[in-house]
Amino acid sequence: MLFNVFWLLLNAFPIPLLSLTQDTSFSMIHDFTQENMCLLGSSFIRQGDLELTLDSTVLPVTFSVGRALYNNMVRLRDPASNTVASFQSVFGFSIQSLTGVAAGDGLAFIIVPDDSSIGSYGGWLGVLNTTTLGNPSSRTFAVEFDTYDNPKFQDLNSNHVGIDIDTMVSSVSVDAWAGAGINLSEGANLTAWIDYDAGMKLLEVRLMQNSLQKPLSPLLNATVDFSQLFDEYMYVGFSAATGSLVEVHTVYSWNFTATGLPPVEVLVTGFCIGVGGLLTLSLAVGLCVVVQRKLLRRMELCSALAPSYYDHDSGSGLISGPRKFTYKELSLATKDFSSQRLLGMGGSGSVYKGVMPDDGAMVAVKCISGDSKGKKEFLVELSIISKLRHRNLVPLQGWCHGKGQLLLVYDYMPNGSLDKLLFANPEECVLCWERRSKIVIGIAAALTYLHEECEQRVLHRDVKASNVMLDASFNARLGDFGLARLSEHNKSPETTEIVGTFGYMAPESTRVGTLTEKSDVFSFGAVTLEIVCGRRPIQRGAATPPDEIVLVDWVWGLHQKQKLLQAVDPRLGAQHNAEEVTKFLLVGLLCSHPDPDARPTMRHVMQILSEDAPLPVVPSSKPVPTYLATDPSIRLHDIITVEHDGLCSSSTISSC
Ligand SMILES: *[C@@H]1O[C@H](CO)[C@@H](O)[C@H](O)[C@H]1NC(C)=O
Ligand SMILES: *[C@@H]1O[C@H](CO)[C@@H](O)[C@H](O)[C@H]1NC(C)=O
Ligand SMILES: *[C@@H]1O[C@H](CO)[C@@H](O)[C@H](O)[C@H]1NC(C)=O
Ligand SMILES: *[C@@H]1O[C@H](CO)[C@@H](O)[C@H](O)[C@H]1NC(C)=O
Ligand SMILES: *[C@@H]1O[C@H](CO)[C@@H](O)[C@H](O)[C@H]1NC(C)=O
Ligand SMILES: *[C@@H]1O[C@H](CO)[C@@H](O)[C@H](O)[C@H]1NC(C)=O
Repeated sequence: MLFNVFWLLLNAFPIPLLSLTQDTSFSMIHDFTQENMCLLGSSFIRQGDLELTLDSTVLPVTFSVGRALYNNMVRLRDPASNTVASFQSVFGFSIQSLTGVAAGDGLAFIIVPDDSSIGSYGGWLGVLNTTTLGNPSSRTFAVEFDTYDNPKFQDLNSNHVGIDIDTMVSSVSVDAWAGAGINLSEGANLTAWIDYDAGMKLLEVRLMQNSLQKPLSPLLNATVDFSQLFDEYMYVGFSAATGSLVEVHTVYSWNFTATGLPPVEVLVTGFCIGVGGLLTLSLAVGLCVVVQRKLLRRMELCSALAPSYYDHDSGSGLISGPRKFTYKELSLATKDFSSQRLLGMGGSGSVYKGVMPDDGAMVAVKCISGDSKGKKEFLVELSIISKLRHRNLVPLQGWCHGKGQLLLVYDYMPNGSLDKLLFANPEECVLCWERRSKIVIGIAAALTYLHEECEQRVLHRDVKASNVMLDASFNARLGDFGLARLSEHNKSPETTEIVGTFGYMAPESTRVGTLTEKSDVFSFGAVTLEIVCGRRPIQRGAATPPDEIVLVDWVWGLHQKQKLLQAVDPRLGAQHNAEEVTKFLLVGLLCSHPDPDARPTMRHVMQILSEDAPLPVVPSSKPVPTYLATDPSIRLHDIITVEHDGLCSSSTISSC
């Protein structure tokens, strides 16, 4: 926040009031920064260029989606006269496919109403998602440079340019090869000109390869009336996505201008210009600054404290995104860590609700038990955690090291944790099926990101329902990286202690040094079954014997009897689709396989859930673990205490 104020002031002085209130113009050439762009999803900055999706030439990463928006909103419509601005957007970009492989999915120039949402993977280009597609309230405009032939959106071919308004089915589209002799995904330096003439309501798109010479005739044109689509202020920027096919989407330069709107708040402007005299001038400047700050605040700078991984340029400091808080600030925010502000207590510390004194923003402050780690170790871990950024992770705002305590400041999640909502009311169903399936997919996306898409592989190690937070629209946000240990890609991680939570812990967790991402997959399976069945992974004190029910075993038993649907939370009633619920239950079982090698990866889970991969066969009875317990210091029956179907009891499990 401090940073934002600083940025506001920095902006407030050199820019004359008139240019802000009337026209917009900016230019970036190999100098995109986190200060001028709001980076969402997988987007990041590399040597001043915008990368919209993860670099699949470095990591074999599929299914990434990113969006980068100019940090200030742009005034595009005057509500009083309902006139729309004319605008020009010129940008240099390239789409690089991997040699010899089909590419996907494309890049789009977008104009959108907010700086927080992001669309779906693949053919959606990150522009829209299943809710916003075709919905006029999404008020989304896109010019797509689409490299994937998606029959769902009636695409022309895998090399076309199109105009999309609130949908991914282009109102006009043209083959880039036929129209301009260009193969989009070849990696050539392309320049696009998007010109809108508000008077004629005419939109024109031009495209050139290896040249900054604007072609005379457009590649395509359309008559578009933006007066219904645009708010007064909109965000402009880029979006791109990959699916099971990948390519690299880069934007090198961008010039944008919007002109032709009547000035806003003429009175104020007139006053500032009209006042003369040295004495009154200083007052006027002060006033203008205040007015301008108000204006800027209304235009809301990108709220994301977007740290960017891959940003090797700015990488001198340990932590690039989140900021340092003072102890006093946090103590004020949490009313001196008052017990009334306590949100919860976990293995690694207590969490307090805070209200920041300067702007009233709500935060969650996590106090990590002082003895758990030294400061240096904490900062090293923090430098990695702070680079993790995904829409299904709880965003980290900053940290504090004071009074012998380590404090982490996160965004406050208004709807609390999944387990509270799931078990809040035994009768009523707060989480309907639609929300539950979205939550499962959200957790899977977060884990896929941690395991495969961030620069360093991160194991969460404590995935459980109470660590899944829900934001205002009930999106899953995985939290608590307090237990995460980091391991570089392709290195076998060494762990020295057993961490995790009973019921979510994979059987192999008991063997020192064998913790892998497959242990997180196991925990994900437990959470998935918990969400679909509305039962805890281990239910104690059940009315009928056995007095402890292990959810996985119970569900697997029903699967064996071909009565899987009996496992579904009765509170869901009939609102779900049996086929979909069955798929989620089977994915839950698959992830709960006793043999880590037989569990799918999180990426595979994502593909199964999004129908991109078929569901593998799930054994009809729970398989018996194939490994032998080799470490005599850990007695397996301390961990596995429940018999299942008499197949293999705790005392005999090691010899099965
Ligand atoms: C689609 O995006 C909108 C915000 O743009 C969000 O409210 C909605 O929940 C998203 N829907 C899905 C299915 O992700
Ligand atoms: C376009 O480039 C891609 C990737 O190099 C290639 O696979 C495709 O055949 C090319 N298409 C045309 C029409 O040249
Ligand atoms: C594209 O332009 C950049 C500089 O802007 C240059 O380094 C690169 O080689 C160019 N690529 C092609 C394929 O011409
Ligand atoms: C728009 O494109 C169509 C077809 O390419 C063309 O016939 C028409 O003249 C163009 N309109 C304008 C105003 O350039
Ligand atoms: C973008 O703007 C800069 C500076 O205003 C200018 O030098 C450059 O030629 C412009 N680029 C294009 C493609 O118009
Ligand atoms: C979830 O959060 C929204 C927004 O803060 C709030 O309106 C709603 O009441 C919350 N729902 C529950 C069940 O807590």
